[in-house]
Amino acid sequence: MASRPEVVAPPEIFYDDSEARKYTSSSRIVQIQATLSERALELLALPDDGIPKLLLDIGCGSGLSGETLTEDGHHWIGLDISASMLNVALEREVEGDLVLGDMGQGLGVRPGVIDGAISISAVQWLCNADKSSHNPRLRLKAFFTSLYKCLSNGARAVFQVYPENIDQRELILNAAMHAGFAGGIVVDFPHSSKRRKEFLVLTCGQRSVNSSVSKGKNEDGESCSDEDSEDEENQTVCISDRHRPRKKQKRNNKNGKGKEWILRKKEQMRRRGNAVPSDSKYTGRKRKDRF
Ligand SMILES: C[S@@+](CC[C@H](N)C(=O)[O-])C[C@H]1O[C@@H](n2cnc3c(N)ncnc32)[C@H](O)[C@@H]1O
Repeated sequence: MASRPEVVAPPEIFYDDSEARKYTSSSRIVQIQATLSERALELLALPDDGIPKLLLDIGCGSGLSGETLTEDGHHWIGLDISASMLNVALEREVEGDLVLGDMGQGLGVRPGVIDGAISISAVQWLCNADKSSHNPRLRLKAFFTSLYKCLSNGARAVFQVYPENIDQRELILNAAMHAGFAGGIVVDFPHSSKRRKEFLVLTCGQRSVNSSVSKGKNEDGESCSDEDSEDEENQTVCISDRHRPRKKQKRNNKNGKGKEWILRKKEQMRRRGNAVPSDSKYTGRKRKDRF
């Protein structure tokens, strides 16, 4: 199996002149990026008012994902760390404005001016420390905090991501939540190892998307039903809204998660192939209150 590019070299080195050309001239990659971008745009759920929006494409590369935004009639600003990828985007005369920059250092965009953001196959790169000065947690924090600031109230950001494992998924989710976002993960084709795709769908501001996160697609390309999403392989996993009062969160934890809940969760994790401690008479026992 080919190694993940993130573990081969830092992005600005991996996507050099030759890789940038190879990437953009592969019809397979062009097709995949277009499909993912169309889906991200769908999940962005922009108002259908015919007014062009100002969008961000984070990790825009050679502009494949940005082209979908142009085709949909929007203006966009693309940010990428690889000068070679951006050179190819320039050669291809994409419509978006291009910025050479590292998302891990923040976006540097004026507050509140962006109507939505997409990012295709890019954010997982932040989970790697390519330099001794890199701390993935801090880089994700800088990124999501600056993204939150530049989005207008109620705007969404949709990230198609390839986390390497559960820890990376949690790292990304936690950073987004701490920056103030609400939202969740939408999984398309959850039962297919080849077609399975994860989208992190976030909303900025007070309008919570916990109740309105879009549903994942199944093998027929149809939205999964509510019954499915309560199933062991959730199509939509919501993360809590930071604006929810803390007290309420605590109460939910106390009342909601008894032994049965723990056993059910452990069973789910086992079915997903995760290492889970075996059940015993101590599983889910009531613990003494902490000091
Ligand atoms: C798989 S490519 C996807 C490119 C583009 N979204 C598309 O649809 O073709 C991932 C891109 O993320 C960019 N990237 C990775 N880490 C980045 C960072 N820290 N800041 C900005 N861009 C980054 C890479 O340079 C690369 O162009």
